[in-house]
Amino acid sequence: MKRIIILLLALLVLLTASPLFAAGGGQQQQGPRVFRYACNQPDGYPTVVGALAFSKYVEEQTRGAIRIDVFSGAVLGDERVTTEQTQTGDIHFIRLGVTFLASISPQVGALGLPFLYRDREHMFKALDGPIGDEVLKMLERQNLLGLAWMDAGFRNFYNNTREVKTLEDMRGLRIRVQETPLMMGLVRMLGASPTPMAFGEVYSAIQNGIVDGAENNWPSYISVSHFEVARFFTTSGHVASPEMILVNTRVWNSFSQEEQRIIKAGALHGANVQREDWLRYERDAEARARSAGRIITDLSPAERVRFTEAVQPMYQQPEYAPFADLIRRIRAVQ
Ligand code: GCU
Repeated sequence: MKRIIILLLALLVLLTASPLFAAGGGQQQQGPRVFRYACNQPDGYPTVVGALAFSKYVEEQTRGAIRIDVFSGAVLGDERVTTEQTQTGDIHFIRLGVTFLASISPQVGALGLPFLYRDREHMFKALDGPIGDEVLKMLERQNLLGLAWMDAGFRNFYNNTREVKTLEDMRGLRIRVQETPLMMGLVRMLGASPTPMAFGEVYSAIQNGIVDGAENNWPSYISVSHFEVARFFTTSGHVASPEMILVNTRVWNSFSQEEQRIIKAGALHGANVQREDWLRYERDAEARARSAGRIITDLSPAERVRFTEAVQPMYQQPEYAPFADLIRRIRAVQ
Protein backbone atom coordinates (compact mmCIF):
# COMPACT_ATOMS: atom_id res chain seq x y z
CA MET A 1 0.00 0.00 0.00
CA LYS A 2 2.76 2.39 1.02
CA ARG A 3 4.51 1.67 -2.25
CA ILE A 4 1.36 2.41 -4.21
CA ILE A 5 0.95 5.75 -2.43
CA ILE A 6 4.56 6.67 -3.19
CA LEU A 7 4.05 5.69 -6.82
CA LEU A 8 0.88 7.77 -7.03
CA LEU A 9 2.63 10.74 -5.47
CA ALA A 10 5.52 10.44 -7.91
CA LEU A 11 3.05 10.34 -10.79
CA LEU A 12 1.33 13.45 -9.49
CA VAL A 13 4.64 15.31 -9.27
CA LEU A 14 5.47 14.30 -12.84
CA LEU A 15 2.10 15.37 -14.12
CA THR A 16 2.05 18.72 -12.43
CA ALA A 17 5.53 19.43 -13.79
CA SER A 18 4.22 19.02 -17.33
CA PRO A 19 3.11 22.19 -19.15
CA LEU A 20 0.11 20.28 -20.52
CA PHE A 21 -1.27 19.64 -17.06
CA ALA A 22 -0.54 23.16 -15.91
CA ALA A 23 -2.20 24.60 -18.98
CA GLY A 24 -5.34 22.54 -18.67
CA GLY A 25 -5.55 22.49 -14.91
CA GLY A 26 -6.78 26.02 -14.34
CA GLN A 27 -4.86 26.09 -11.05
CA GLN A 28 -2.97 28.94 -9.45
CA GLN A 29 0.27 29.06 -11.41
CA GLN A 30 3.66 29.09 -9.77
CA GLY A 31 5.98 30.69 -12.31
CA PRO A 32 5.68 30.43 -16.08
CA ARG A 33 4.59 27.41 -18.08
CA VAL A 34 7.52 26.65 -20.32
CA PHE A 35 7.32 25.29 -23.86
CA ARG A 36 9.96 24.21 -26.36
CA TYR A 37 10.25 25.47 -29.95
CA ALA A 38 12.58 23.72 -32.40
CA CYS A 39 14.32 25.27 -35.40
CA ASN A 40 17.27 23.65 -37.16
CA GLN A 41 18.82 26.88 -38.44
CA PRO A 42 21.53 28.68 -36.46
CA ASP A 43 21.10 31.85 -34.39
CA GLY A 44 20.82 34.98 -36.51
CA TYR A 45 18.96 33.17 -39.31
CA PRO A 46 15.61 34.85 -40.10
CA THR A 47 13.48 31.94 -38.87
CA VAL A 48 15.24 32.10 -35.50
CA VAL A 49 14.87 35.89 -35.38
CA GLY A 50 11.14 35.41 -36.07
CA ALA A 51 10.82 32.67 -33.45
CA LEU A 52 12.40 34.92 -30.82
CA ALA A 53 9.99 37.73 -31.74
CA PHE A 54 7.11 35.25 -31.35
CA SER A 55 8.40 34.08 -27.98
CA LYS A 56 8.88 37.65 -26.72
CA TYR A 57 5.40 38.66 -27.82
CA VAL A 58 3.77 35.71 -26.04
CA GLU A 59 5.75 36.23 -22.87
CA GLU A 60 4.85 39.92 -22.76
CA GLN A 61 1.20 39.49 -23.61
CA THR A 62 0.67 36.71 -21.07
CA ARG A 63 2.61 38.73 -18.47
CA GLY A 64 5.15 35.97 -18.19
CA ALA A 65 2.63 33.15 -17.71
CA ILE A 66 3.71 31.40 -20.92
CA ARG A 67 7.33 31.12 -21.92
CA ILE A 68 8.43 29.64 -25.24
CA ASP A 69 12.10 28.67 -25.28
CA VAL A 70 13.58 28.66 -28.77
CA PHE A 71 16.08 25.89 -29.48
CA SER A 72 17.99 26.79 -32.64
CA GLY A 73 20.75 25.02 -34.52
CA ALA A 74 19.08 21.58 -34.36
CA VAL A 75 20.12 21.15 -30.72
CA LEU A 76 16.96 19.14 -30.10
CA GLY A 77 17.74 16.84 -33.05
CA ASP A 78 17.42 16.81 -36.83
CA GLU A 79 14.16 17.62 -38.60
CA ARG A 80 12.86 14.05 -38.70
CA VAL A 81 13.39 13.52 -34.97
CA THR A 82 12.06 16.91 -33.89
CA THR A 83 9.03 16.56 -36.14
CA GLU A 84 8.16 13.21 -34.60
CA GLN A 85 8.66 14.66 -31.15
CA THR A 86 6.39 17.57 -31.96
CA GLN A 87 3.77 15.12 -33.15
CA THR A 88 3.96 13.30 -29.83
CA GLY A 89 4.04 16.55 -27.85
CA ASP A 90 7.54 16.17 -26.39
CA ILE A 91 8.45 19.29 -28.33
CA HIS A 92 5.65 21.85 -28.43
CA PHE A 93 6.38 24.14 -31.39
CA ILE A 94 8.43 23.67 -34.55
CA ARG A 95 9.21 25.48 -37.77
CA LEU A 96 9.04 23.36 -40.95
CA GLY A 97 8.75 23.86 -44.72
CA VAL A 98 6.20 22.27 -47.03
CA THR A 99 8.72 20.21 -49.01
CA PHE A 100 9.70 18.51 -45.77
CA LEU A 101 6.09 18.22 -44.57
CA ALA A 102 5.36 16.38 -47.84
CA SER A 103 6.74 13.30 -46.12
CA ILE A 104 3.84 13.26 -43.65
CA SER A 105 1.17 14.97 -45.78
CA PRO A 106 1.29 14.95 -49.60
CA GLN A 107 -1.58 17.45 -49.52
CA VAL A 108 0.58 20.01 -47.74
CA GLY A 109 3.47 18.88 -49.93
CA ALA A 110 1.45 19.93 -52.97
CA LEU A 111 2.36 23.52 -52.03
CA GLY A 112 5.97 22.56 -52.61
CA LEU A 113 5.54 21.21 -56.12
CA PRO A 114 8.15 22.54 -58.56
CA PHE A 115 7.67 25.82 -60.42
CA LEU A 116 4.23 26.28 -58.85
CA TYR A 117 4.40 30.00 -58.02
CA ARG A 118 5.05 32.73 -60.55
CA ASP A 119 7.01 34.71 -57.97
CA ARG A 120 7.14 35.53 -54.25
CA GLU A 121 4.21 37.91 -54.47
CA HIS A 122 2.02 35.22 -55.99
CA MET A 123 3.09 32.76 -53.29
CA PHE A 124 2.20 35.09 -50.43
CA LYS A 125 -1.10 36.06 -52.00
CA ALA A 126 -2.02 32.38 -51.91
CA LEU A 127 -0.61 31.77 -48.43
CA ASP A 128 -2.09 34.86 -46.80
CA GLY A 129 -5.57 34.13 -48.13
CA PRO A 130 -8.12 31.32 -47.69
CA ILE A 131 -5.84 28.71 -49.31
CA GLY A 132 -3.01 29.30 -46.85
CA ASP A 133 -5.46 29.25 -43.93
CA GLU A 134 -6.87 25.91 -45.07
CA VAL A 135 -3.43 24.39 -45.43
CA LEU A 136 -2.43 25.46 -41.90
CA LYS A 137 -5.23 23.18 -40.65
CA MET A 138 -4.46 20.19 -42.87
CA LEU A 139 -2.09 18.49 -40.47
CA GLU A 140 -4.58 17.83 -37.72
CA ARG A 141 -4.42 14.07 -38.20
CA GLN A 142 -0.66 14.35 -37.78
CA ASN A 143 -1.27 16.15 -34.44
CA LEU A 144 0.02 19.44 -35.79
CA LEU A 145 -1.60 22.82 -36.33
CA GLY A 146 0.01 25.53 -38.45
CA LEU A 147 -0.12 29.04 -36.98
CA ALA A 148 1.63 31.29 -39.50
CA TRP A 149 3.63 31.28 -42.73
CA MET A 150 7.26 32.28 -42.99
CA ASP A 151 9.28 32.98 -46.13
CA ALA A 152 11.84 30.49 -47.39
CA GLY A 153 12.42 32.01 -50.81
CA PHE A 154 13.13 29.76 -53.77
CA ARG A 155 15.56 26.87 -53.88
CA ASN A 156 18.46 26.54 -56.29
CA PHE A 157 21.00 23.88 -57.23
CA TYR A 158 24.62 24.07 -56.16
CA ASN A 159 27.46 21.62 -56.45
CA ASN A 160 31.20 21.31 -56.51
CA THR A 161 31.58 19.34 -59.74
CA ARG A 162 30.50 21.54 -62.63
CA GLU A 163 28.63 24.61 -63.69
CA VAL A 164 24.98 23.84 -64.43
CA LYS A 165 23.79 25.86 -67.42
CA THR A 166 21.53 23.36 -69.12
CA LEU A 167 19.35 20.42 -68.24
CA GLU A 168 22.08 18.12 -69.61
CA ASP A 169 24.51 19.46 -66.99
CA MET A 170 22.25 18.03 -64.27
CA ARG A 171 22.64 14.53 -65.62
CA GLY A 172 24.20 12.18 -63.12
CA LEU A 173 24.94 14.80 -60.44
CA ARG A 174 24.47 13.34 -56.97
CA ILE A 175 22.31 15.87 -55.21
CA ARG A 176 21.40 15.78 -51.54
CA VAL A 177 17.68 16.23 -50.98
CA GLN A 178 15.36 16.39 -48.00
CA GLU A 179 14.13 12.97 -46.97
CA THR A 180 10.88 13.12 -48.95
CA PRO A 181 9.62 11.40 -52.11
CA LEU A 182 8.69 14.84 -53.42
CA MET A 183 12.26 16.10 -53.54
CA MET A 184 13.64 12.76 -54.67
CA GLY A 185 11.21 12.63 -57.57
CA LEU A 186 11.92 16.20 -58.58
CA VAL A 187 15.68 15.72 -58.74
CA ARG A 188 15.31 12.41 -60.56
CA MET A 189 13.10 14.02 -63.22
CA LEU A 190 15.88 16.51 -63.87
CA GLY A 191 18.23 13.64 -64.61
CA ALA A 192 20.26 13.89 -61.40
CA SER A 193 20.63 11.31 -58.69
CA PRO A 194 18.93 12.24 -55.37
CA THR A 195 20.53 11.33 -52.05
CA PRO A 196 18.21 11.90 -49.08
CA MET A 197 19.91 13.03 -45.88
CA ALA A 198 19.42 15.33 -42.91
CA PHE A 199 20.29 19.00 -43.36
CA GLY A 200 23.05 18.90 -40.75
CA GLU A 201 25.00 16.26 -42.67
CA VAL A 202 25.12 18.07 -45.99
CA TYR A 203 28.27 20.14 -45.48
CA SER A 204 30.51 17.18 -44.77
CA ALA A 205 28.79 15.03 -47.41
CA ILE A 206 29.72 17.58 -50.09
CA GLN A 207 33.16 18.11 -48.59
CA ASN A 208 33.86 14.38 -48.60
CA GLY A 209 32.45 13.84 -52.08
CA ILE A 210 29.59 11.64 -50.87
CA VAL A 211 27.36 13.92 -52.93
CA ASP A 212 28.24 16.48 -55.60
CA GLY A 213 25.94 19.12 -54.20
CA ALA A 214 22.55 20.05 -52.83
CA GLU A 215 19.73 22.50 -53.42
CA ASN A 216 18.51 25.25 -51.16
CA ASN A 217 17.69 28.94 -50.86
CA TRP A 218 20.38 31.66 -50.82
CA PRO A 219 20.22 32.10 -47.03
CA SER A 220 20.88 28.42 -46.31
CA TYR A 221 23.75 28.33 -48.82
CA ILE A 222 25.42 30.83 -46.47
CA SER A 223 23.98 30.10 -42.99
CA VAL A 224 25.45 26.61 -42.75
CA SER A 225 28.43 27.40 -45.00
CA HIS A 226 27.55 25.17 -47.94
CA PHE A 227 29.06 27.88 -50.13
CA GLU A 228 32.48 26.91 -48.80
CA VAL A 229 32.26 23.42 -50.25
CA ALA A 230 30.02 23.91 -53.33
CA ARG A 231 31.27 26.60 -55.64
CA PHE A 232 28.86 26.29 -58.58
CA PHE A 233 25.45 27.85 -57.88
CA THR A 234 22.66 27.98 -60.47
CA THR A 235 19.66 30.21 -59.86
CA SER A 236 17.15 27.55 -60.87
CA GLY A 237 14.48 28.63 -58.37
CA HIS A 238 12.95 25.20 -59.02
CA VAL A 239 10.86 25.08 -55.88
CA ALA A 240 9.58 27.24 -53.04
CA SER A 241 9.14 25.63 -49.66
CA PRO A 242 7.23 28.16 -47.55
CA GLU A 243 7.57 27.39 -43.87
CA MET A 244 5.07 27.17 -41.02
CA ILE A 245 5.22 27.75 -37.32
CA LEU A 246 3.47 24.65 -36.02
CA VAL A 247 2.15 23.64 -32.62
CA ASN A 248 1.24 20.20 -31.30
CA THR A 249 -2.58 20.02 -31.31
CA ARG A 250 -2.87 18.65 -27.77
CA VAL A 251 -0.69 21.48 -26.51
CA TRP A 252 -2.82 23.92 -28.50
CA ASN A 253 -6.05 22.56 -27.02
CA SER A 254 -4.60 22.90 -23.53
CA PHE A 255 -4.50 26.70 -23.91
CA SER A 256 -7.45 28.87 -22.92
CA GLN A 257 -9.20 30.78 -25.70
CA GLU A 258 -7.47 33.96 -24.66
CA GLU A 259 -4.09 32.23 -24.66
CA GLN A 260 -4.78 30.80 -28.10
CA ARG A 261 -5.60 34.28 -29.36
CA ILE A 262 -2.31 35.62 -28.01
CA ILE A 263 -0.28 32.71 -29.38
CA LYS A 264 -1.82 33.00 -32.84
CA ALA A 265 -1.21 36.77 -32.87
CA GLY A 266 2.34 36.16 -31.64
CA ALA A 267 3.02 33.65 -34.41
CA LEU A 268 1.75 36.11 -37.03
CA HIS A 269 3.92 38.82 -35.50
CA GLY A 270 6.97 36.51 -35.49
CA ALA A 271 6.30 35.53 -39.10
CA ASN A 272 6.11 39.19 -40.14
CA VAL A 273 9.41 39.93 -38.43
CA GLN A 274 10.87 36.87 -40.18
CA ARG A 275 9.61 37.91 -43.62
CA GLU A 276 11.20 41.33 -43.36
CA ASP A 277 14.45 39.94 -42.08
CA TRP A 278 14.37 37.33 -44.84
CA LEU A 279 14.62 39.91 -47.62
CA ARG A 280 17.65 41.52 -46.01
CA TYR A 281 19.34 38.18 -45.27
CA GLU A 282 18.67 36.87 -48.77
CA ARG A 283 20.29 39.92 -50.38
CA ASP A 284 23.26 39.70 -48.02
CA ALA A 285 23.66 35.98 -48.66
CA GLU A 286 23.84 36.46 -52.39
CA ALA A 287 26.33 39.30 -52.01
CA ARG A 288 28.43 37.18 -49.69
CA ALA A 289 28.47 34.26 -52.15
CA ARG A 290 29.52 36.57 -54.95
CA SER A 291 32.27 38.21 -52.94
CA ALA A 292 33.53 34.76 -51.98
CA GLY A 293 34.08 34.12 -55.68
CA ARG A 294 31.40 31.50 -56.13
CA ILE A 295 30.40 30.84 -59.73
CA ILE A 296 26.80 32.02 -60.02
CA THR A 297 24.94 30.97 -63.15
CA ASP A 298 21.53 32.20 -64.21
CA LEU A 299 19.42 29.76 -66.17
CA SER A 300 18.48 31.17 -69.56
CA PRO A 301 14.72 31.59 -70.09
CA ALA A 302 14.80 28.72 -72.60
CA GLU A 303 16.53 26.41 -70.13
CA ARG A 304 14.08 27.39 -67.42
CA VAL A 305 11.29 26.22 -69.69
CA ARG A 306 13.11 22.91 -70.18
CA PHE A 307 13.59 22.46 -66.40
CA THR A 308 9.94 23.30 -65.85
CA GLU A 309 8.75 20.85 -68.46
CA ALA A 310 10.98 18.08 -67.20
CA VAL A 311 9.32 18.11 -63.78
CA GLN A 312 5.69 18.40 -64.91
CA PRO A 313 5.08 14.66 -64.40
CA MET A 314 5.38 15.38 -60.65
CA TYR A 315 1.89 16.86 -60.81
CA GLN A 316 0.48 13.59 -62.14
CA GLN A 317 2.14 11.38 -59.53
CA PRO A 318 -0.42 9.35 -57.54
CA GLU A 319 0.48 11.32 -54.35
CA TYR A 320 -0.29 14.71 -55.92
CA ALA A 321 -2.91 14.01 -58.58
CA PRO A 322 -5.73 14.08 -55.96
CA PHE A 323 -4.86 17.70 -55.17
CA ALA A 324 -5.28 19.00 -58.70
CA ASP A 325 -8.03 21.31 -57.54
CA LEU A 326 -5.88 22.86 -54.78
CA ILE A 327 -3.10 23.38 -57.32
CA ARG A 328 -5.52 24.92 -59.81
CA ARG A 329 -6.75 27.33 -57.12
CA ILE A 330 -3.19 28.33 -56.24
CA ARG A 331 -2.39 28.95 -59.89
CA ALA A 332 -5.53 31.04 -60.29
CA VAL A 333 -4.52 33.48 -57.53
CA GLN A 334 -3.76 36.82 -59.16
C1 GCU B 1 16.08 24.99 -45.44
C2 GCU B 1 15.35 25.08 -44.13
C3 GCU B 1 15.82 24.01 -43.17
C4 GCU B 1 15.78 22.65 -43.84
C5 GCU B 1 16.61 22.70 -45.08
C6 GCU B 1 16.79 21.36 -45.78
O1 GCU B 1 17.39 25.37 -45.27
O2 GCU B 1 15.53 26.34 -43.54
O3 GCU B 1 15.02 24.01 -42.04
O4 GCU B 1 16.23 21.65 -42.98
O5 GCU B 1 16.07 23.65 -45.95
O6 GCU B 1 17.06 21.38 -46.98
O7 GCU B 1 16.70 20.32 -45.15
